[in-house]
Amino acid sequence: MNRGRIIRSGLAAATMASIGAAWVASAQPKTSIRQPDLGRGAVIAAQGVATSVPACAQCHAYNGGSDGSGAFPRIAGQSPSYLAKELHDYASGVRLNAVMAPIAKALSSDDIADVTAYYASSNAPYLPLASPNPALIKRGEQLAKVGEWKRGFRNNSPDAMADVAKRLDKQEIAAVAAYFQQVDASALAATPPKK
Ligand code: HEC
Repeated sequence: MNRGRIIRSGLAAATMASIGAAWVASAQPKTSIRQPDLGRGAVIAAQGVATSVPACAQCHAYNGGSDGSGAFPRIAGQSPSYLAKELHDYASGVRLNAVMAPIAKALSSDDIADVTAYYASSNAPYLPLASPNPALIKRGEQLAKVGEWKRGFRNNSPDAMADVAKRLDKQEIAAVAAYFQQVDASALAATPPKK
């Protein structure tokens, strides 16, 4: 290819690109990527999907605040991309959990987009905490930068977390959990009341 030809084809490409950009800018959003449907997500949370998916509310509560028992994670207010990633990882087996795997597998991509948008938008209040033990909180604070990825089920998250978590014993894990509970409670106390 000679120099003139390169310049001409470069110009042609630039022209095509600007025509393309103008076309995209003027196009109606008819063919745009599907937006998550929060209303549909709320229905999945409350009722599940047909007979294949149970209502998320059974375990996580309708508002995503879970039940305070510690058995079910709070999912309210997490980022939609985090929640969706976890659901895709349960479905693929990258993250192992016997309860969530069949549920996640039965969700379509649209279901996941909708239900995670719904839970991400929820600002469920934090539940009152079981009376925290000050000594445990203090110990937990020391460990707080560590985390608790202990059992190896969270294969979908950074390896460093697993390494560190394996070094925690049960007491230390309880301490970290007590510390973070208390952090959540004070974060809530610092939140100005909604008008
Ligand atoms: C029968 C109880 C049950 C039902 C129903 C249920 N979940 Fe779960 N969910 C759990 C448990 C238990 C975990 C924690 C699993 C683990 O340790 O990985 C979990 C974890 C999750 C997580 C990961 C949270 C995190 O912080 O990483 C997401 C996201 C989630 N569930 C979403 C949903 C959605 C959406 C639905 C409804 C379509 C649903 N769950 C229905 C019990 C349930």
